[in-house]
Amino acid sequence: DALPNANYIRDRIRTVADWPQAGVMFRDITPLLQDKKTFRLLVDIFVHRYMDQKLDVVAGIDARGFILGAVVAYELNLGFVPIRKKGKLPFNTIAEEYELEYGSATVELHADACKAGDRVLLIDDLVATGGTMIAAANLLKRLGAEVVEAAAIVDLPELGGSKLVRDQQIELFTVCN
Ligand code: PRP
Ligand code: ADE
Repeated sequence: DALPNANYIRDRIRTVADWPQAGVMFRDITPLLQDKKTFRLLVDIFVHRYMDQKLDVVAGIDARGFILGAVVAYELNLGFVPIRKKGKLPFNTIAEEYELEYGSATVELHADACKAGDRVLLIDDLVATGGTMIAAANLLKRLGAEVVEAAAIVDLPELGGSKLVRDQQIELFTVCN
């Protein structure tokens, strides 16, 4: 891959078999966050990628997308808006329902989180089936914002989500598989 440090980051993502349910290979980013050098390297990859882009705000996805998203927003001198799971945001919200492997889920965004024409960087930790990232992007688009890029640490390309995201004309950056 193009990034010289992607292996360094990949090596600190732990795979836990059969969690939270049988058949899932869960990618656990906690060792990566825990190690000060890897965490800084990770944040720096994102900050360098976006520091010369004209952006208005960073949106992060509940819950692991908050960790990286808020730090990247701070370093880019931008504000941060949370995209949350259903029932967590107190003010007027808009919602998008999407399909999971089994059943469905809903993400919500405050109606005043951004305004028409805002250039938004959308951040989560991982793309699996892509449903979460696409639903989050749709929320931002419904407010008239432009999703300049969606970004995550990990792509699981065998689940097809990154292709679905790109099929929706959403630019997608991931650090490793
Ligand atoms: C995980 C991950 C992404 C999403 C990816 O979140 O953090 O948000 O799933 O899956 P998808 O591409 O198939 O939609 P999860 O729902 O486990 O929530 P958490 O961040 O609160 O752990
Ligand atoms: N979200 C959806 N699938 C996942 C996986 N395999 N590891 C971590 N988070 C996930």
